[in-house]
Amino acid sequence: MKHHDENIKYLFEPRSIAVIGASNEEGKIGHIVINNIVKYGYKGNIFPINPKGGKIAGLNAYQSILDVNEDIDITILTIPAKFALDAVKQCAAKKVKYCLMITSGFSEIGNAKEEHKIVAVANENGMRILGPNIFGVFSAESSLNGTFAGTDIPAGHLGIITQSGALGLAMIAQATVGNIGLSVMVSVGNKADVDEADLLEYLITQERTKVILMYIEGVRKGASLIGALKRATKVKPVVIIKSGRSRRGAMAAASHTGSLAGSDAVFDDIIKQGGALRAESMKDAFEWSKFLANNPLPAGGNTVIITNGGGAGVMATDACEKYDVKLYDDLENLKTIFLPSIPEFGSTKNPIDLTGQAGEKDYIKAFEAALKDPDIHSVLVVICETPLYSGDKITGGVELYYEKFKKAGKPIIFCLLGGQLVADYIREASRNNIPIYEDIYDAVSTLGAMYAFKRYADEVEDDAATVNINVAAIDEIVDYAGKEGRLFLFAHEGQSIMNIIGIPIPRSQVAATIENAIKSASAIGYPVVMKVVSKDILHKSDAGGIALNLDNDQEVISAYEAIMRNCRAYMPRAVIEGVEIAEMVQPGTEMIIGARIDKSFGPTVMVGLGGIYVEVMKDVSFRALPLDRKEIISMIKEIRSYPLLLGVRGEKTRDINALVDTIVKLGAIISNCKGISDIEINPLVVYEQSSGIKAVDVRIILSKEDREVR
Ligand code: COA
Repeated sequence: MKHHDENIKYLFEPRSIAVIGASNEEGKIGHIVINNIVKYGYKGNIFPINPKGGKIAGLNAYQSILDVNEDIDITILTIPAKFALDAVKQCAAKKVKYCLMITSGFSEIGNAKEEHKIVAVANENGMRILGPNIFGVFSAESSLNGTFAGTDIPAGHLGIITQSGALGLAMIAQATVGNIGLSVMVSVGNKADVDEADLLEYLITQERTKVILMYIEGVRKGASLIGALKRATKVKPVVIIKSGRSRRGAMAAASHTGSLAGSDAVFDDIIKQGGALRAESMKDAFEWSKFLANNPLPAGGNTVIITNGGGAGVMATDACEKYDVKLYDDLENLKTIFLPSIPEFGSTKNPIDLTGQAGEKDYIKAFEAALKDPDIHSVLVVICETPLYSGDKITGGVELYYEKFKKAGKPIIFCLLGGQLVADYIREASRNNIPIYEDIYDAVSTLGAMYAFKRYADEVEDDAATVNINVAAIDEIVDYAGKEGRLFLFAHEGQSIMNIIGIPIPRSQVAATIENAIKSASAIGYPVVMKVVSKDILHKSDAGGIALNLDNDQEVISAYEAIMRNCRAYMPRAVIEGVEIAEMVQPGTEMIIGARIDKSFGPTVMVGLGGIYVEVMKDVSFRALPLDRKEIISMIKEIRSYPLLLGVRGEKTRDINALVDTIVKLGAIISNCKGISDIEINPLVVYEQSSGIKAVDVRIILSKEDREVR
């Protein structure tokens, strides 16, 4: 169980630093790091450590950290792996708070044992390890450049946490080019001890950081990451790039950092649950981050598109639909606002079409109108270069109105489509942090990210939904199977568990004679299905051991006789105990629900379109527990087949409440019953509102070993 680390502040705001392996030899990492620290203007005490002593980077070097008389908050290790453990022991003895290990050569190349030893020694002494296999830390708050980056790092408001060092160094370079200032830049490397969740805790409260960007390859302690993300995204946007999306990518990631890349589908859904924005590309990630760091959040969801191109307006509308940006649609009000400012042939329906004959003046009139109206919350401007509005004239309006809108707390974003002049202008304006794009979809994806963040931040969280379940009764069934050496439960055991937690299953009875079969059938109610009961016959339908849709006594009699005949012919020596008579399940919407222990995220639940094509359709969504009902509903809404639950072609809405209840129950089982690792119901038939659900088939898999974390 991890507790919040009160010292985390000193990782970014250390009062003193020792560089173990500081060197005078140009080109060595230990040389670059010590010189970066000095050059960038770090104000605390700096202690170069090198067995040769002397002077390094103009400072007195110490032969050992133990020779330093003052307290040291952090050490940066730039010595080869084989010397690391001894150095860490000395740091621990010196009561250092954080040891940052730039050194490579541990779990990422299969040397996990040494890494564990190092963390154990550190933690026993209250010291924590960042890395190993990192490029260091940058913190604008302390003017600290404790990295071996080759360029100056511009200070600003974006905090970056990266698992890949090389990519992080590339990000520094790109941030410089894009004029994106950083508040913090830190690499986590092998995450032997400190991980993203720890670092997020600091960035959540640090004022300088307005947006957090994370590059993640694999997640180990998923539950603590989600917790930290949830807290972070209530106060500032978190943009995540995760690699390992494709199968090949996932394999490369695993061998790259020695950590397991979690299943991508699960990861995607779960970071959404944490309120983070997942970027597909580095470009998106930087664009979103830059926009979110420099612009106000809108007061509401109404966006208008202002354009001089009919086709551009249609494209922008499509893009808005794709990225979930809501277009303001009060046509009456739009008319009142824009009619006075648009040319004769224009349109006041959103997109506001100023027509191809519009020039700067027309745009300005429309901007003024949008600026004044309180029902308009954000504006997307799409300008096509025309003979009447040539590239050299566009610039003035853009800059002036960007500032005006910003001051008014209304986000505005520009897209300019045109020639060389326009392209040059976009580059220059973008460097000056004006949100301006040369592609409509890039512009709208940024607006979409802004709204996704806003929706999450505005959401009020409920208490986690849970139910009391009879854990002892379930454990008894699981233990019995365990004693028999089974890793799964039989169908009837699964059904007993359904009965214990109150999930309805089809009524059924076993009968050993024709008379009893008839009695059972009328007790259950027609129509019924009949299945042979025999330990020896595994494939009942192959054996002709199943009869469906039996409507009366006569049909039960014939079916019983046919099943006995078929099964004896199929396997003459089979011991037949009788037949199972079960309720014929009425048709409804077939869903699949499941709960399992995920390697990275712990207890998770899943919902999706059920039936036999689950694997093909892959229409499922995941969440990590705990969850409130609202989150469960949002998980259900995410699947493509959601409209089926609302009722199509005149059907009534399905019992979504009962579906939610059932997911809560599976969640309670997976969280509380240690022996169970997977539980799945498919199909779960969902009936009309207030008519409930029925669990037709239940599969339960037992855990191989006792799980440590719950
Ligand atoms: N205490 C202090 N200084 C020590 C020491 C100790 N216990 N042991 C060695 N040193 C000194 C060395 O004498 C040397 O100083 P010098 O230049 O004055 O002789 C300095 O530390 C560096 O040691 P050296 O043996 O020259 O190592 P190196 O610079 O070739 O390589 C690493 C060290 C850490 C850079 C290398 O082992 C490594 O891991 N490289 C990969 C780093 C990386 O890519 N990280 C991930 C980035 S994302």
